[in-house]
Amino acid sequence: MNPYQQKKRWKYSLLTFAVVIASGSLLYTSYLVRNIAKSERTRAQVWAMSMKQVLASDDNDFLSYVFAVRDSSIVPAIVTNNRGDIQLSRGLDPTKTFIKLEAEDNTPGKIHKKYDIAYFKAELANMKKQHTPIKLKVLDTEWLVYYKDSDLLTQLKYFPYIQLSVIAIFLLLAYTAFSSSRKSEQDQVWVGLAKETAHQLGTPISSLMAWIELMKEKFNAEDDPLIGEMENDVKRLEIVADRFSKIGSKPQLEEHKVYDVVKDFVDYFKIRVSKNISFELTGNPHLLAGINVPLFDWVLENLMKNAVNAIEGKGKIKVDISGNKIKKQVFIDISDTGKGIPRSKFDTVFQPGYTTRKRGWGLGLSLTKRMVENYHDGQIFVRDSEMGKGTTFRIILKNIRHDKQTAA
Ligand SMILES: Nc1ncnc2c1ncn2[C@@H]1O[C@H](COP(=O)(O)OP(=O)(O)OP(=O)(O)O)[C@@H](O)[C@H]1O
Ligand SMILES: [Mg+2]
Repeated sequence: MNPYQQKKRWKYSLLTFAVVIASGSLLYTSYLVRNIAKSERTRAQVWAMSMKQVLASDDNDFLSYVFAVRDSSIVPAIVTNNRGDIQLSRGLDPTKTFIKLEAEDNTPGKIHKKYDIAYFKAELANMKKQHTPIKLKVLDTEWLVYYKDSDLLTQLKYFPYIQLSVIAIFLLLAYTAFSSSRKSEQDQVWVGLAKETAHQLGTPISSLMAWIELMKEKFNAEDDPLIGEMENDVKRLEIVADRFSKIGSKPQLEEHKVYDVVKDFVDYFKIRVSKNISFELTGNPHLLAGINVPLFDWVLENLMKNAVNAIEGKGKIKVDISGNKIKKQVFIDISDTGKGIPRSKFDTVFQPGYTTRKRGWGLGLSLTKRMVENYHDGQIFVRDSEMGKGTTFRIILKNIRHDKQTAA
């Protein structure tokens, strides 16, 4: 199984597991909340009934028993008569039930207290929203006992959400830390391998060059086309080694006309592919960007090789260069008339190992992305694609400045 399918499976299994845990925890808490809410309703009822007994009795022992029952329940409640007038209350915030007023004769330090009606009304409205009132018959009148959830119950209702959010934040942080450390590990392997490859290629390439010079002398074959071809191939090997050495360390960017760099590459590339593929280069020839030519050639080569593979027969590769003055960006759009990429794979194609070709390694685009983003501070993405019609990749580079002299 390809590693991305495996990763996807893992992701889905973990996600399902997380959903099961989260819903299990929410269900259990809501079960607890329902039970406590039921018992709180009973407590409010007990309290109201106890008050009814208080009003009907003058037996002191009985009254102290009733007060003990009353104080054991902590459900905040307000009792009104059937006209809505407040008769009794309990369990409200004692710091808010009164307002302090200066004494009427303005004696300094003399303060008297008054019920804060607005507070009671607000609490009553809140209770009406939360539960239907308990009805009680007291001395020929009807009482309505309104109550609200205790602080404990309210906290319990929100607890699973707080708990799950904390866990989610923790997992997110752990995941980010883990994946960034894995990425830097991959970077090290990548860069190390590139440097080592360049280093190992260096010696045989120099020897080959010396051998070719010797052959020319020995066989007096300065203009022999076969030796010319050999020389070309050795030069090509040199370019490859140079590319590897460049991605092994942060390369220097130089200001180049993007159009010229692309044109040079297209001229080099088009004679090396089938005649069935035509090339077209359009756009603004004056835009400048910071480019490392050997690496950027590699980028173009990967993209164009992919385009050639996607075309399968007759087709066209078009490169268009445009810019955005305000954002100081240069756009390089590379379009082909190939088989296209499904929308769901627009990001996946850049992952290492993703390939649909029998002989592909799936490394071309991931390397390309790396060279554009890490070494040119640019961006690359699939701009659009239609199955059976073709694909356009867009590279965005930083436009250093407009070449005014040539543009004029
Ligand atoms: N222009 C394109 N049109 C259609 N599909 C494309 C195009 N470019 C890339 N792809 C898809 O993206 C995949 C990954 O491309 P990438 O260049 O990374 O690897 P590859 O070409 O398969 O192998 P290699 O490592 O040799 O480059 C390709 O196999 C192909 O399915
Ligand atoms: Mg490729």
